[in-house]
Amino acid sequence: MKLLSSLIIFFVIVLFCVVGSLSASLCKYPGYSTQGVTKTNNGYEATLNLISAGPYGNDIEQLNFQLTFETSQIFRVRITDPNNQRWEVPPTVNQLVGENPDSTDYIIEFTNNPFGFAATRISTGEVLFNTTQPSDCSFNGLIYSNYYLELSTSFTESNPNIYGLGERTSQLRLFNNFTYTLFAKDQGTASIPNINLYGSHPFYLQLSSSSGNANGVFLLNSNAMDVQLQPNSLTYKVVGGIFDLFFFTGPTPLSVIQQYSQVIGTTHMPSYWSLGYHNCRWGYHSIAETAQVVANYSKYNIPLETMWNDIDYMDSFRDFTTDPVNFAASDYKTFIDGLHANNQHYIMIVDPGISNIEPIYQSHIDLMESGAYIKAGGTDGEPLVGSVWPGYVNFPDFLHPNGTEFWTQQFQRFYETVQFDGVWIDMNEISNFCDGNCFNNTDTPMPPPQFDPNYPPYIPGGVPLYSKTINMTSLQYNNTLVYNSHSLYGYTEGLATQLAVQSILGTRSTIISRSTFPGTGAHFAHWLGDNKSTFTDMYYSIPGMLAMNMFGIPMVGADICGFNGDSNAELCGRWLQLGCFYPFTRNHNTFLGAPQEPWVFGQEVVDISIKAINGKLTLLPFYYTLFHISHVSGDPVVRPLFFEYPSDPNTFAIDQQFLVGTGLMVSPVLTQGATTVNAYFPNDIWYEYGNGSLVQSVGTHQTLNAPFDVINVHMRGGNIIPTQPTSSYVTPVDGIPITTKISRTLPFELIIALDSSLQATGQLFLDDGESIQTYVDNKYSFIQFDVVSSPSSSAYKLQSTILNNNYNGTASLIINSIQIYGSPSVQQVIVNGSPINSFNAVSDSTLSVSNLQLALDESFEVDFVLY
Ligand code: NOJ
Repeated sequence: MKLLSSLIIFFVIVLFCVVGSLSASLCKYPGYSTQGVTKTNNGYEATLNLISAGPYGNDIEQLNFQLTFETSQIFRVRITDPNNQRWEVPPTVNQLVGENPDSTDYIIEFTNNPFGFAATRISTGEVLFNTTQPSDCSFNGLIYSNYYLELSTSFTESNPNIYGLGERTSQLRLFNNFTYTLFAKDQGTASIPNINLYGSHPFYLQLSSSSGNANGVFLLNSNAMDVQLQPNSLTYKVVGGIFDLFFFTGPTPLSVIQQYSQVIGTTHMPSYWSLGYHNCRWGYHSIAETAQVVANYSKYNIPLETMWNDIDYMDSFRDFTTDPVNFAASDYKTFIDGLHANNQHYIMIVDPGISNIEPIYQSHIDLMESGAYIKAGGTDGEPLVGSVWPGYVNFPDFLHPNGTEFWTQQFQRFYETVQFDGVWIDMNEISNFCDGNCFNNTDTPMPPPQFDPNYPPYIPGGVPLYSKTINMTSLQYNNTLVYNSHSLYGYTEGLATQLAVQSILGTRSTIISRSTFPGTGAHFAHWLGDNKSTFTDMYYSIPGMLAMNMFGIPMVGADICGFNGDSNAELCGRWLQLGCFYPFTRNHNTFLGAPQEPWVFGQEVVDISIKAINGKLTLLPFYYTLFHISHVSGDPVVRPLFFEYPSDPNTFAIDQQFLVGTGLMVSPVLTQGATTVNAYFPNDIWYEYGNGSLVQSVGTHQTLNAPFDVINVHMRGGNIIPTQPTSSYVTPVDGIPITTKISRTLPFELIIALDSSLQATGQLFLDDGESIQTYVDNKYSFIQFDVVSSPSSSAYKLQSTILNNNYNGTASLIINSIQIYGSPSVQQVIVNGSPINSFNAVSDSTLSVSNLQLALDESFEVDFVLY
């Protein structure tokens, strides 16, 4: 009997082995095998040997596999060619050095033939990534050829929730049966949804529907790629570079983004003023017209923080010049001086293309002298010629060691004429009006002509890579093919711009770029590009903004009222309400579009804009504190609902509502003609922001009233939000409306939303709003607010704890009032031991306390004694 069972087991094992090897050999592209994986002191390594050739030839016979334990929650996999140095993203991202953590929350397992690796999260037992080819051959093994790399992972849970893989106009939760292309492209968001736009972000966050746990994967690679999502797998199809993957075990969506930020860098601290309201359009034809718009903002009492000019200010659209007639230098100076006198700011556009037409154009002369320009491939180093607004142009090369110096020199000279406060960098994908190379350079494929980078064997997205941009054969510094570096252009231009502007202004400034790459948010900001004046595009701005927050670029917003096409009163009014909750709030219009400044649509929209912008200024201490937290830990500033409710499947696809921090939920109207909004309330305590009325049914959708002048905003129990209500500021007659310079000095009001056990918490970060590195230099204050109460007690208590007190402006700031949502009836309020009278119940559950005069730089305690 014993013998029989042993024989059966033996035959079963043999059968498994035969079937296993048969099924492995049946797969067309099994990939690589290894003789064995070796443990290193902080990971594993292996030599991989090609089993059989991939679909495009030129397979690399032998590969080096290296896995490093970066932290307890992050590991990294690099698959490289040990015999040839391949293109790699320059070390601009904050690449961690394996620190060999004492313990890890992941375990890695391998198969040798074919080679595969799988990562399991130890704390939950969930398989996070598994490249082992399935026996049904539903995806290929590892393919690693010169110009085509492929790697897949299987999902243990079908149709998982996947987010990220930008940039694109799309719903927030990606389709499970779709191929997403990543390659920077001048592609207006108004056209086809889901196709690749201005930036490349090869990062995704995966959320398990059954457990609510999240993990993330970042492929550090700048080449064009497709990421194919299928119900049971995800496949990278990349046309160059290496596989350099970072894995984040989470397990919460928030911790995934924090871990991703450890690699790409946490958020830069924006200047305080950049959080104010901005106005721009393409088509302000003169200083007089621009100044008139600013004057109208004052006339209508609409708080304008920053005025912008598009390419109209330039002389023949050449960078670093001004139109001698319409934007004459002396008028320019008077205009900007006027803005500055009113505490307002000025930003103008700069494009990367430097005109090469005029014989005497200093910027072009400097560019040629610097040698830091992109060269046409197949020539003796001639500059590549593209075409943008000024006509034919050459492009600076920001990978070149002289690139930043050239760029700084231009801004320095320009600043003598135009005293800008920030810079808007556009067209940096690179955008080119003639595909490839529009001048008569002989821009031929690289010798030897076996590979033409313009036509790789596999073309992600199926559209020629040089379309709307320069040839892939073009060369950057050190003979770097633009084929490899293309998607880095905007990022490198942004870094150079940031350094240039910082060296001139000596402060934080504001840099807004169209093209982005992982790491951007650590240095500068982004707007979502050319949308359309439609309700649909207004909706798309929300998933766009939320995705960018997951990509570590929280300073983001869309063109309010819409860019292409004509806006209208209803759309613009609704968009102003929504846009004042974007971290970056700018009204921008195209040159053919009908005007869309608020007053164009009459008093109703003027009133809406005043209310919306004042609402934004009131909330700025809260937003600014969120930016500080993002600066320190990488947390998104605005986030999808599923970040806070990852166990609630109803939240997984929500992208018409969003959260600011953890405590404020925005539910805008996104449909023409609607005066109600259908909003989801996760199972929690919610109050209406503004009056504190309690939302009665949660865990369900609710129809909320949303008349034209109302945007629905709710506050979650357990949160304290610091505000500076602008209502305490009276605009002087004929004076300028309020700006952030004033709003940041106003008395504070704490909005406290109590949870079911009468507790709440919140923070406030304060600094001068513009000095570089106030956190590192310890020139900031940080205050913690807590409401505590013990279950049986007949009182609850608000206390402030000063965790840091090194911003010297803190002493002049006070908290004057408090609103408490969800309060039982209070009979006595005691401030630092002394009873006060200045409190009243606004409603059954909202309490208002005024005339407090509490200095922010001294800790305080307020006791609320219940009936
Ligand atoms: C394209 C940008 O996306 C848009 O915002 C700008 O107005 C135009 N270029 C003109 O500069």
